Amino acid sequence: MERTLDLSSQELLAANSQMQTLLQTVEAQVVERTTQLTQSNAELEQTLHELRQTQTQLVQTEKMSSLGQLVAGVAHEINNPVSFIHGNLTYANQSVRSLVHLLHLYQQHYPTPVTEIQDELADLDLSFVIEDLYKMFISMQSGADRIKQIVLALRNFSRHDESAMKPVHLEEGIESTLQLLQHRLIPAADSGLPTIQVFKNYGSLPKIACYAGQLNQVLMHLLNNAIDALLEDPKREQSNYRPSIWIETRLNENHSAEIRIADNGIGIAPTHQRRLFDPFFTTKPVGAGTGLSLSIAYQIITQQHQGKLECRSTPGNGTEFCITIPTEASLELTQDLPRTA
Ligand SMILES: Nc1ncnc2c1ncn2[C@@H]1O[C@H](COP(=O)(O)OP(=O)(O)OP(=O)(O)O)[C@@H](O)[C@H]1O
Ligand SMILES: [Mg+2]
Repeated sequence: MERTLDLSSQELLAANSQMQTLLQTVEAQVVERTTQLTQSNAELEQTLHELRQTQTQLVQTEKMSSLGQLVAGVAHEINNPVSFIHGNLTYANQSVRSLVHLLHLYQQHYPTPVTEIQDELADLDLSFVIEDLYKMFISMQSGADRIKQIVLALRNFSRHDESAMKPVHLEEGIESTLQLLQHRLIPAADSGLPTIQVFKNYGSLPKIACYAGQLNQVLMHLLNNAIDALLEDPKREQSNYRPSIWIETRLNENHSAEIRIADNGIGIAPTHQRRLFDPFFTTKPVGAGTGLSLSIAYQIITQQHQGKLECRSTPGNGTEFCITIPTEASLELTQDLPRTA
């Protein structure tokens, strides 16, 4: 009897220890599964975040591309009538000058015209009318010139015909973007806004293979931000402050092309610098900024062009953005192009 009891208590102990081991295994498994679950959850969250970002960027890219098509279409349509006006103004000016010359000849050779003409002349300040007419021609000509430049800049800017990667001169994109931003750089005298100086330092860059229309969008976003930063800057109140933008292009030793856009504006706080390229990050008042421009610019440079978009900023002093684009693709594309004489 004692032996039987002894045996069953041994069995019980063994069973207990088995239970303990089992429990430990189960506990370990639970811990492992929980860790795995937490990890999968974090991965899912990350994927969701990336998906949201991609979705925003896709929507924006699509919008930009439709806008680009619209701009290119409008610019194309305006081009013809403007060329018409621009071209004919020169001839109209010459014809008016010939008529005025003829009028002076008449006055010279017929100093005393008939009464009807004398009355008409008395009512009309002829020399004023002629002088005013010449001035009108000058202003109409400069207006037509300006429209032509804007149309050209719009066509270059949207480069709708170039949806594929093509070798282009980066400076052309910079120039047409600056042309379109002229109204912000040199605001109307009665606006109370300062004129912004632009200093350019173009290195002698070869043609670089890129999506020109998209790259121009990036330049537009960076320059618009620089202008905003200059206008927001409290330094504006100081009389010796000259709001300025510096644009530099150069070819690096590793043959990548670099565009630097710097401003002496308000600068960016270090805590904000980390979030610059996040979609919807903005420090501007509601309605003033969407916070999407830099995230789109980042995607265009890093993903479409396999390049880099970096920012350095000293709060209160200014900001510099640097775009780097690898040029291997340019070499391949240039070699593929038919040789021209
Ligand atoms: N050159 C700059 N100087 C100072 N701050 C800048 C500069 N460029 C960008 N920022 C900061 O980065 C933020 C995000 O810029 P982003 O262009 O993405 O959006 P936004 O300018 O606010 O709005 P929008 O999408 O309409 O351009 C800005 O709100 C601003 O705080
Ligand atoms: Mg912006």
